[in-house]
Amino acid sequence: ASPKTWSGRFSEPVAELVKRYTASVSFDKRLAEFDIQGSLAHAQMLNKVGVLSDDDLTAITNGMSKILAAIREGSFEWLLDLEDVHMNIEKRLTDLIGDAGKRLHTGRSRNDQVATDIRLWLRHEIDALIHLAGELQRSLLDLAEKHADTVMPGFTHLQVAQPITFGHHLMAYVEMLARDVERLQDTRKRVNRLPLGAAALAGTSYPIDREFVMRQLGFDAVCENSLDAVSDRDFAIEFTAAAALVMTHLSRLSEELVLWMNPRFGFIDMADRYCTGSSIMPQKKNPDVPELVRGKTGRVTGHLVALLTLMKAQPLAYNKDNQEDKEPLFDTVDTLSATLRVVADMMRGVVVKPEAMRRAVKQGYATATDLADYLVKKGLPFRDAHEAVALAVRYAGEQRKDLEDLSLVELGTFSPLISAEVFEVLTPEGSLASRNHIGGTAPNQVRAAIARARNRLEEA
Ligand code: ARG
Repeated sequence: ASPKTWSGRFSEPVAELVKRYTASVSFDKRLAEFDIQGSLAHAQMLNKVGVLSDDDLTAITNGMSKILAAIREGSFEWLLDLEDVHMNIEKRLTDLIGDAGKRLHTGRSRNDQVATDIRLWLRHEIDALIHLAGELQRSLLDLAEKHADTVMPGFTHLQVAQPITFGHHLMAYVEMLARDVERLQDTRKRVNRLPLGAAALAGTSYPIDREFVMRQLGFDAVCENSLDAVSDRDFAIEFTAAAALVMTHLSRLSEELVLWMNPRFGFIDMADRYCTGSSIMPQKKNPDVPELVRGKTGRVTGHLVALLTLMKAQPLAYNKDNQEDKEPLFDTVDTLSATLRVVADMMRGVVVKPEAMRRAVKQGYATATDLADYLVKKGLPFRDAHEAVALAVRYAGEQRKDLEDLSLVELGTFSPLISAEVFEVLTPEGSLASRNHIGGTAPNQVRAAIARARNRLEEA
């Protein structure tokens, strides 16, 4: 095995077991393109301030483009002996171009290097995730538009509460996702700051130009304190928290799909391509995909807890603990990205069954509040109206009828204020139409909400 770049002060080589324990190249090679990007900006800066010659810069630039090509075509040989992505690339560069390669690390440490790589990588991934969250919103909006008038029961405590439209229900998720995107955009601001220049922890004695590197790499600012720059991963924690919230929202939607697909609800059917069968029970069609979304949400929440725990007892500045930030972070991005894609496509395969939704509205006395509101408008105090309608519901239950199926005479026994036009408010459509304000479930309001959401997406 080749000696480590830092092995000069040691009298024996690192134990094989320790090598495997401390190496991160198996996963951090994922940062390679960003590592090269950061190195090139650093080299250009060193050249600009007179620390690196023009010839050295040219050699580094050419060497790196060969390395990048090899990485992209999969022919780059990653060596565990070289520990991590940074030293694999630096060693290869030195093999290719000689001494110029050894000068690249002037005024830099792997500590500020890795922090820079992660930020460059995460910024790129956040942009991709924001795009995917937009696609999912579009998929939900298309379905909501088709069902802006489709009556379904709204629930509280999972018991039928009041009529809503299926479109309105879906728009709740569009709102959640819009906030999720805001959170990602906000996190991005704090991700997009440059650690490079902090070196190991205290800065460097070379006359570096951090603002030049910042501009080269498209960062909005430089990290102001060198200790903080190399040691904190709050930007990664914050991102994972935002990701866990997106997953939580998608998990709630998934739970509803699973319930709605159960024949006791029968509100939807799901495209066969999104379901699986059972190896023993021939009749089964299982909603595996939404179940997995629910399951994977636990995984991302776990990553958030892992990162918080990783950080909580670290003294300043860099500690090797931080190497453990990568796998949870990578898996968070992979899980969220795959889930956003799969849910967007799955929603396009949802078959809605309006008759079953309407039946559930009728069976649940969903318009009882409308009857109470009707009495209030006729002058009855709300509490008295509530009481009168509760008795009417009890009576209707005994008769096995819906409220709107009771006769005017029957209804009249609960309040003398009830007259023939009451039947307009007792229908699901009457109930929906009356909730006609911003945020309400009236179909025209749902259509307006859809239009606003589409505009928001276009402007983004
Ligand atoms: N692989 C390391 C990490 O991921 C890079 C920084 C190592 N720095 C050090 N002083 N050992 O954090």
